[in-house]
Amino acid sequence: MRQKVAAGNWKMNMTPSQTSAFINELAPKVADACNTVIVCPTAVCLPAAVSAAKGTNIKVGAQNMYFEDKGAFTGEISADMLLDLGVSYVILGHSERRQYFAETDETVNKKVLKAFEKGLIPIICVGESLEQREQGITADLVRMQVKIALMGVSAEQAKTAIIAYEPIWAIGTGKTATTEQAEEVCKTIRECVCELYGSDAAEAITIQYGGSVNAKNSAELFAQPDIDGGLVGGASLKAEDFSVIANS
Ligand code: PGA
Repeated sequence: MRQKVAAGNWKMNMTPSQTSAFINELAPKVADACNTVIVCPTAVCLPAAVSAAKGTNIKVGAQNMYFEDKGAFTGEISADMLLDLGVSYVILGHSERRQYFAETDETVNKKVLKAFEKGLIPIICVGESLEQREQGITADLVRMQVKIALMGVSAEQAKTAIIAYEPIWAIGTGKTATTEQAEEVCKTIRECVCELYGSDAAEAITIQYGGSVNAKNSAELFAQPDIDGGLVGGASLKAEDFSVIANS
């Protein structure tokens, strides 16, 4: 049985002091959570998050990192910097990064390879726009995103990866994909991983759904055979709601 994973993508919200206070509030609520619980604050809040999460079952992830080890890359953050802080996960290729910060499937792949090389677990985001869905190319597009993101990744590495299927039209809109839509694409992703790496990797890999997941819809979504939890934006900023999701 795959463990389900509830990851909170805080995006550009919360200060370091709010981060500590939030995790202190969240920790007792998720102490017995059935799902793995991850919070992903913005980079400057990571030290506060790691410190507050110490001794709890809350894990900490970053929202991005660069694929080079070090050097003249103003404003960027390396895998070693994250590891040194005690961060264990990193979200890569979120649609907002693709849309506003020019990330491509190729840069996502380089980051995925670097994350694995260094020992960070990537949460790889894929998903279609509304226009792409209406054109009927969702499955083709998502399969291509997955294949490019995993280029050069071994089967053993792929087993530990997290892929988050996040339809762009469902992010921050309150417009959740239906359970059937979410399951259909997560199943497609698992089949794609099976073609690439075989059934062991396909059975082991974690595939989340993301896009307006909340305390009301998480249980039904997470009950689907191919949905192993969620990547949660807005609802992860409320300790009460996120704890319900973590226990779904
Ligand atoms: P949302 O964001 O839950 O606010 O829709 C999800 C995400 O962008 O990861």
